Amino acid sequence: MTIVRHRFHALCPYFAMFPENFAETWIERLTRPGDLVLDPFCGRGTTPFQALLMGRHALAGDINPVAFCVTKAKTNAPPLPALLRRLTFLENRFEPSHWEGERRRLPEFFRWAYCPSTLRQVLFMRATLNWIGSKTDCMIAALILGSLHGETEKSPSFLSSQMPHTISTKPLYSIRFWKERSLRPPDRDVFELLRQRAHFRYASPLPDGEAMVYHDDFRELPRRAQKLVGRPRCVITSPPYFDVTNAEEDQWLRLWFLGGPPFPTATDKSGDCRHGSLTGFWDLISDIWRSLSRVMDNKADVVIRLGGKNLEPEELVRGLQATSVFGRRKVELLHHEVSALKNRQTNSFRPGSKGLAFEVDCHFRMS
Ligand SMILES: C[S@@+](CC[C@H](N)C(=O)[O-])C[C@H]1O[C@@H](n2cnc3c(N)ncnc32)[C@H](O)[C@@H]1O
Repeated sequence: MTIVRHRFHALCPYFAMFPENFAETWIERLTRPGDLVLDPFCGRGTTPFQALLMGRHALAGDINPVAFCVTKAKTNAPPLPALLRRLTFLENRFEPSHWEGERRRLPEFFRWAYCPSTLRQVLFMRATLNWIGSKTDCMIAALILGSLHGETEKSPSFLSSQMPHTISTKPLYSIRFWKERSLRPPDRDVFELLRQRAHFRYASPLPDGEAMVYHDDFRELPRRAQKLVGRPRCVITSPPYFDVTNAEEDQWLRLWFLGGPPFPTATDKSGDCRHGSLTGFWDLISDIWRSLSRVMDNKADVVIRLGGKNLEPEELVRGLQATSVFGRRKVELLHHEVSALKNRQTNSFRPGSKGLAFEVDCHFRMS
């Protein structure tokens, strides 16, 4: 068992993230070194990163660009010297006056959130980083995502005025909050802060190997998995919870940094993030079984952590079991466990996520 927490784990928070010891316990129990571990809803990438740390191979995907960027950065990390060289190169290319016009055109929120010199640097990084195509730029982008907003009054690691580190609060609410308290944004140098954060994160050694990470709907998993040499031995995952959050809205500022619009949207591109209807939710879960049954190894283990607003734990377990028939493979529930959500991380994201009182962990065997 790992004793010291690897510093990459906390690179960037994520809604409904599970703790690394959840992934670690199941990887230890169900796999051997060299096995392939899958997480098709990888969020901040805990399962694939922990799998690499334990000498396993990993395949991970997510539809959310923030999840993709953070997971890819952790599991395909560049060496620290390359990262520092790239930061110096970018710093030397940065010309503040080029970014002033764009800074001024941004909505009012940004002027309250960031001091002008910081925002010009953020805009330059946003436009310049090739985070999809380059490992080094992906790690720099992930470090920025982890520092983009947070509790500035407590820590100098954040670029914004006082905000939660977890979700991006809405513009009108945020501006009112800052005005009422006469809060001014801190004067941070993005390049200097990134160097500090990089040294801090890289204090833990990098794992051997890299994960295969894709940015896609989980229904594309069978197509993505065609390229694999072996088949996944186990899945450790948590699909979107029923009616709990809209990740697009709650992460709007991080999504903006990755190329999205400068305001919150809730278009629910995948249609899966926050269901109004239970039918839609169970359709999604049925599709998961369909996808998994096409890619998993014989006698594979599937561990699912699931939650839902105003749903009883037994309803979740029964639903998971009932929908498993859509995979057309034999699926047996070996074990399940219910945990009450007291002081869990979902509270720190949305203290108001009322009705989400439980999570269930189910262990299935698919033959
Ligand atoms: C409960 S969170 C997973 C959190 C993750 N276990 C962690 O520790 O960070 C569910 C994830 O499912 C992703 N998701 C939602 N709909 C999806 C879809 N259709 N295909 C792939 N991923 C999807 C969301 O973007 C979110 O990252």
